[in-house]
Amino acid sequence: MEKKPFYITTPIYYPSDKLHIGHAYCTTIADSVARFKRLAGYDVFFLTGSDEHGQKIQRKAQENKVTPIEYVDKIVDSFKHLWVKLNISNDDFIRTTETRHREVVQAIFQKIHDQGDIYKASYEGWYCTPCETFWIERQLNDGKCPDCGRPVEVVQEESYFFRMSKYQDRLLKYIEENPDFIQPASRRNEMINFIKGGLEDLCVSRTTFDWGIPVPFDTKHVVYVWFDALTNYITAAGYLHDRDKLAKYWPADIHLVGKEIVRFHTIIWPIILMALEVELPKMVYGHGWLVVEGDKMSKSKGNVIEPLQLIEEFGSDAIRYFLLREITLGMDGNFSRDALINRINADLANDLGNLLHRTLNMIGRFNNSIIEQPGETDTVDDELIKLAQNTTAEYERLMEAMDINAAIKQVWTLISRTNKYIDETAPWALAKDPAQKSRLNTVMYNLAETLRIVSILISPFMPSTAPKIWQQLGIKSDFATVCLDDAQGWGRLAAGTVVAKPEPIFPRIEEKEQAEETKPAAKPEKKQEVKVVENPATPEITIDDFAKMDLRVAKVLAAEKVKGADKLLTLTVDLGTEQRTIVSGIAKHYTPEELVGKNVVMIINLKPAKIRGIESRGMVLAASCDDKLTLVTAPEMPAGSKVK
Ligand code: ME8
Ligand code: MG
Repeated sequence: MEKKPFYITTPIYYPSDKLHIGHAYCTTIADSVARFKRLAGYDVFFLTGSDEHGQKIQRKAQENKVTPIEYVDKIVDSFKHLWVKLNISNDDFIRTTETRHREVVQAIFQKIHDQGDIYKASYEGWYCTPCETFWIERQLNDGKCPDCGRPVEVVQEESYFFRMSKYQDRLLKYIEENPDFIQPASRRNEMINFIKGGLEDLCVSRTTFDWGIPVPFDTKHVVYVWFDALTNYITAAGYLHDRDKLAKYWPADIHLVGKEIVRFHTIIWPIILMALEVELPKMVYGHGWLVVEGDKMSKSKGNVIEPLQLIEEFGSDAIRYFLLREITLGMDGNFSRDALINRINADLANDLGNLLHRTLNMIGRFNNSIIEQPGETDTVDDELIKLAQNTTAEYERLMEAMDINAAIKQVWTLISRTNKYIDETAPWALAKDPAQKSRLNTVMYNLAETLRIVSILISPFMPSTAPKIWQQLGIKSDFATVCLDDAQGWGRLAAGTVVAKPEPIFPRIEEKEQAEETKPAAKPEKKQEVKVVENPATPEITIDDFAKMDLRVAKVLAAEKVKGADKLLTLTVDLGTEQRTIVSGIAKHYTPEELVGKNVVMIINLKPAKIRGIESRGMVLAASCDDKLTLVTAPEMPAGSKVK
């Protein structure tokens, strides 16, 4: 069967500077949608590129004492390098300085001129060079650009004008009849109001500089950079050059753009297309802005976040996951290093990483690394299986609705449920009893099968992690051939599959203490008194006596107050291969929130005790003196490490 086409674009970014995390954010969203659509069986065309002409770039080149093309060549290389590092799967990269593009821009300018929709007049008004936008007096805000707040310049020159006003009513009607055209809905209302305010004819050529595509019939003019730039979307789809390609992919399904350029994409671009009698794109989606620790990114503030450095430090999948999970599409979002590290530790290292690690570890230890045929079942299995299947269906619905954030949450609900399934089924206990072998096999199979499904669902967001999970599960088929349908059916994992040795996919990030000199000024120093604690020593023991204690590092996964007991907390801890519940008398010294994530030291072979009706299996170690108490911790050591 012929695959359905799907065409998605990002803005073509200005190579006036290196790209920052905001550009990476937009491209990551588009990439994830493109990958999801490929997974769902579409024939995807995913386009990004660079918008290389205009006054801004010409000035930048002058400042740097190079020609414009020398200037952009270098920066465009850095764009392409970044996209490789971020694992972006674009099918084409369009540069507006390419011949294929110049030909299209000149041809459409000529055509629109010849039909009388472009005419020559003289322009007098204002121009914002950073935004490459014309403004008329009444649109200015305190004499500044209403979009970016920067100073504008007077422009007074002979220009060609595009008769936008002629198309105003048709555009309004189109927007009103096609509720999906502008997304999210808030942006749509904004645009409707803007159009109702009246559209001016647009100045579409300049004569005071020459870095642009010449107007074919009047070469002292260069085409206005936005007229040139918007056209990229049809150039790359084959307009003029590849009829079949154009028929297949045009109209585009989604132009993904930042909210500040929705206006260009939903007013100027559709009117150009109407003038050409070409169909309009199906959707323009305006995403929100990324701010840094609450502040707008800018060079002068020195808070510009460079994506390459982050990728070096944390890996591209972690960055991609963070951007997609932390920010709701369409809303502004905050980038913070702490939030990034929290997400990596909580969602990736802990939830997903531990699930994989524990599963593979148990299959290794209990079942000789073989995923055996499932046997005896239980109702707790049905719940897991049902959830896995619902997750795939719900995920698909949410991804189709561009609710990426919610789709990811669904997958993590499944991951958490599966971690809980391990506690409920207690495989370590099943493994001790040969009569429970069949049950153990079912539990191990269900864990591995859920992970197989999870790996498919996360692949649009984390394209390098997904095949790693696949490989550790020992699945032989090529991940590149996987489709969404493979996540739909339960039980596709072949029994007899031999799992690999578990390798951590997301090591926990332990932030190093800030260097002393960069630490904020400390409170006035109090002389630390060294107090000698005098405790009567207990009688001597032998090393063998000591060795009877099984002391381990345990990671606190959850902590909560015991109702009606103000000194007690119940802790759920991870010992690497199993989880346990213990009751501990430390509530006066630690809040539950402080404890989660700590690697404490615990004696694990202490006889279980029932405390307030809760079975406590082990005890954490703490140093205490008078009314002070501090837990013994081993922050660098993985859960399960022996302490001796
Ligand atoms: O506007 N947060 O290019 P540009 C989120 N060449 N996204 C951000 C962002 C931020 N802080 N900063 C930038 C242009 N972006 C034109 C486009 S298209 C025919 C021509 C993203 O280099 C966002 O998608 O200024 C925004 O729309 C785009 O980068 C602007 O990139
Ligand atoms: Mg911009």
